[in-house]
Amino acid sequence: MANVNEVFSILEMRDLARKKLPGVMFDYLEGSAEDERTFEWNRNSFSKYEFVPRTLTDVSSIDLSTTFQGVHIDIPVISAPTGMSRMFHWEGEKAVVRATHKAGTAYALSTVATTSIEDVAKESSGPLFFQIYAWHNKEMVKDFIERSRHNNYKGLMLAVDLAALGKRDRDLRNGHGRPAVLRRNTALGALGKPAWLFNFLTKPKMRMANMVNQLPHGADALKVVDTVNAQFRADVTWNDATEMMQQWNGKFMLKGIQCVEDAVRAADLGVSGIILSNHGGRQLDGAPAAMDILPEVVAAVGDKVEIFVDGGITRGSDIIKAIALGAKGCLIGRAYLYGLAAGGEQGVTRVYDILKDEMERTMKLIGCCSLKDLNASYVRKHV
Ligand SMILES: Cc1cc2nc3c(=O)[nH]c(=O)nc-3n(C[C@H](O)[C@H](O)[C@H](O)COP(=O)(O)O)c2cc1C
Repeated sequence: MANVNEVFSILEMRDLARKKLPGVMFDYLEGSAEDERTFEWNRNSFSKYEFVPRTLTDVSSIDLSTTFQGVHIDIPVISAPTGMSRMFHWEGEKAVVRATHKAGTAYALSTVATTSIEDVAKESSGPLFFQIYAWHNKEMVKDFIERSRHNNYKGLMLAVDLAALGKRDRDLRNGHGRPAVLRRNTALGALGKPAWLFNFLTKPKMRMANMVNQLPHGADALKVVDTVNAQFRADVTWNDATEMMQQWNGKFMLKGIQCVEDAVRAADLGVSGIILSNHGGRQLDGAPAAMDILPEVVAAVGDKVEIFVDGGITRGSDIIKAIALGAKGCLIGRAYLYGLAAGGEQGVTRVYDILKDEMERTMKLIGCCSLKDLNASYVRKHV
């Protein structure tokens, strides 16, 4: 299995990614907080449901298209914001945005990306969203908002699950936050991964590309980690969310909602979307899986706000289950990063092809032709 086209599932793509990346980089991609329980819960949350298939239905034509915050997408899953994508492949976000748009869906760029708001917009003409934080430096945040507007980003996602950085033991052990240790461990691990090492040494430096004018050392990603981490605030409140929503004055989502109470508050505030997410288990270990709170959230606010789900998706059928339970759509993080690490743009394209094929097959096998007809009667708790 040397090539992404010989891979038939997302977890096989994970194995290929692991072969291509130095251990430190794979740990950053895969690792979660503390005992990684929430990471496991995310994966297991989909196994708690089984389908209620209908047979003898004409399923010769399946329609997976829907909308994400008013934007048409061909499949009900988009690329979640992930920081530092160039760690996994030298083309980073550029490869991901091209493949995502080729798959007919939307891409969300992270604040801590290694390609800028402008360069991502130049790379591909499909729909873009920007993931933002309420940081100490309000001028910098204002700058992100105006640059997103100017570059025709369709909406903002405020990440609300970072009152503190999650404790990721793998990263601490590998030396993240201690540049000298990180460099040594990366160098040692990279010796056995010559292709990755060659690109790392010969391509332009990894930078915090959205902040090259504001950070020291030309925003060299390995040197400014602490400066960036110091921007996170523990005192972000609903007032900050309201202020940012008004400043943007367009589609505005909260990413990282983890309970019904907050979902209700977000809907009352008038946000256009909420993303039930625990950051892929990377923040609070012990946070619930999105699928486990989805039915309650749908019952409380499903008619007021678009609800999206992420965390642990490795199969097209996972996405179909979430939509049956009332989600408008899903986001994937690691799934596309495995593809990126395994084979750049081609790898991400393969990930989307696999998920699309699995979603179509699942819809056929449950006897449902269109997402509009998919509802809770197609799933039940597995006993
Ligand atoms: C390597 C990595 C980096 C991430 N960086 C960010 C980020 O910068 N901003 C953000 O809001 N979420 C970030 N996330 C979380 C994702 O947006 C998403 O919520 C999560 O990956 C979904 O879980 P999954 O990886 O199991 O699909 C990151 C996730 C990973 C794996």
